[in-house]
Amino acid sequence: MSHNAPLSFVHRYEPATDAGAPPLLLLHGTGGDENDLIGLGRMLSPGSALLSPRGKVLEGGEGRPLPRFFRRLREGVFDEDDVRVRAAELAGFITEAREAYGLAAPIAIGFSNGANIAAAVLLTQPDALAGAVLMRAMVPLAAPPVTDLAGKGVLLLSGAMDPIVPEDNAARLAGQLRAAGARLDHRTLPAGHGLSQADVSLARAWLAGPAHAAA
Ligand code: MLT
Repeated sequence: MSHNAPLSFVHRYEPATDAGAPPLLLLHGTGGDENDLIGLGRMLSPGSALLSPRGKVLEGGEGRPLPRFFRRLREGVFDEDDVRVRAAELAGFITEAREAYGLAAPIAIGFSNGANIAAAVLLTQPDALAGAVLMRAMVPLAAPPVTDLAGKGVLLLSGAMDPIVPEDNAARLAGQLRAAGARLDHRTLPAGHGLSQADVSLARAWLAGPAHAAA
């Protein structure tokens, strides 16, 4: 059963059933919500505490507005001032949630827009996360500040046929993370923007191994 504290993001929280498993911060893609990645989180790291906020930015259009974690001008073109503000806001939520639920710094599991905000948090708020699995991420900030990721483990999973994230963009993000000192494992899978079974297997193995632990 989950007991949700009234924190600054609408969220879902599932307590750990294995005290040794790292807490996960689940970050959904555009149009998702706090429920989307709970099943994935359970699959990737059974026993982990799961903290899953809903993005606060609503993208218009007709019908139901789509929750996201920061504003974009169009697909793949981001409002970088908003990226910075939203990354700080999400880091604030992580601090609140850690206190409310008694958690260690979480590992972010982000998909698409959720992976992009996770990358922005790593690059601007390096203490907020213990590491990250970034699925179909792209560069969130063209010129991120100088950051020390101090050997944090990051798994970047890109799709060779991804129509949203060009290969050179994913490579540029990999370069930014390496330059900041992350221990980066970048894999490009025979996949599009959607997740494949290979993403699940690689992320699960990475989380089960020592790679995610800070050096
Ligand atoms: C983004 O806006 O973060 C990326 O284009 C991915 C997406 O959400 O479609």
